Amino acid sequence: MDRELLIQLAMKARKIAYTPYSGFQVGAALLTDDGQIFTGCNIESASYTPSNCAERTAFFKAVSEGIREFQAIAIVGGPADREELEICAPCGVCRQVMMEFCDPETFQIILAKNPKDYQVYTLKELLPLGFGPKDLER
Ligand code: THU
Repeated sequence: MDRELLIQLAMKARKIAYTPYSGFQVGAALLTDDGQIFTGCNIESASYTPSNCAERTAFFKAVSEGIREFQAIAIVGGPADREELEICAPCGVCRQVMMEFCDPETFQIILAKNPKDYQVYTLKELLPLGFGPKDLER
C-alpha cells in the first residue's frame, strides 16, 4: 500500500472542502480492497446538522458505486488557512460507519500531518468493543 500517495490524495481533497461555517477543512482518501481510491471532503450546511465529514463522503461515494471492501483510509484536517497540519482523528460517527464496512482488526486509519509524518491505527484501536454487523448475526 502506498501510504504517501493516499495522504497526498487526502490533502488534495481537503483543498475542496466546503466549510463556510467552521473553516475547518478535512480531506480523506479511502483505499478499496481492489486498489481503487475514493476521496472525500467535508461539506457543511447553513442548518449545520446535514453537514457531512470527509471520511463519510469518501465511504458513501464508494458504497454508492457498489464497493464494500476496504483496506485503509488516510485523513488530514485543520483550519483552512493552515498549511502545517496537526493530526485529525475521525469523529465517532465516522468510526461507526467504518465499523459497518471494515474489519476492525485489519482496517488501517492513517492520520497524517503530511506525506512523511503520520500515525497508523487499526479501527479496533480507535473503536474498541465496537458494535457492528456481526453483533446482529444469530
Ligand atoms: N470533520 C470531518 O470532516 N472529519 C473529522 O474527522 C472531524 C470533523 C468536519 C466536520 C465539520 O465540517 C468540521 O470538520 C468541524 O467539525
